[in-house]
Amino acid sequence: MRKSESQCIIYVRTHYILRTQRKAWARVSVFMKIQKLTTKEYDEIVKLWSRANLPFKPQGRDSMDALRAQLKANPEFLLGAFVHNHLVGTVIMSCDTRKGWINRLAVDPDHRKSGIAKALIAESERILRNHGIRIFCALIEDYNVASKKLFKECGYVEHHDILYFSKRDSDEV
Ligand SMILES: CC(C)(COP(=O)(O)OP(=O)(O)OC[C@H]1O[C@@H](n2cnc3c(N)ncnc32)[C@H](O)[C@@H]1OP(=O)(O)O)[C@@H](O)C(=O)NCCC(=O)NCCS
Repeated sequence: MRKSESQCIIYVRTHYILRTQRKAWARVSVFMKIQKLTTKEYDEIVKLWSRANLPFKPQGRDSMDALRAQLKANPEFLLGAFVHNHLVGTVIMSCDTRKGWINRLAVDPDHRKSGIAKALIAESERILRNHGIRIFCALIEDYNVASKKLFKECGYVEHHDILYFSKRDSDEV
């Protein structure tokens, strides 16, 4: 892993299995770049969430204005993963000073299973640690087998004895 702290950019080597012109399978290795995103990339981010089939709240906490407010408080809490300068992964962190949360983790379907989500989680934890956070959490729907396996691989423990309660001012928030 190569790191440039000043620009908050890291490079991670990932591997892809590709079909060659001779119809053989080849394992290629490329560098993926992780860097901070801003609301300037909002349209690209929304396109990626849609492609990834990720549920999100465009009129609520994922609206451009809501994201702008979140980034005003913590400009480094929105990350993008790029392969050949294309946005292929995103994550939004949040933190209440007691716990850190990994939200809106999504990877382009054409770039899955090459370690991008794992790298985004690792980088999110690093950033949250810099904010004094020592507990990292994610809310995962029970049907989401891929995400449950991913977080377990990253050392997260599944809790069966906790129910999530929330109170919302509307369904859109
Ligand atoms: C879940 C998701 C983010 C994983 O992204 P990814 O970049 O493909 O994940 P990684 O390549 O880093 O996978 C790391 C590990 O996670 C697990 N994993 C990832 N995808 C998996 C799948 N489809 N089925 C089972 N396990 C899976 C595996 O253990 C994998 O390790 P391995 O490749 O050595 O088997 C991606 O599938 C996605 O965007 N899904 C739709 C949106 C979503 O559900 N987001 C999570 C919300 S909580």
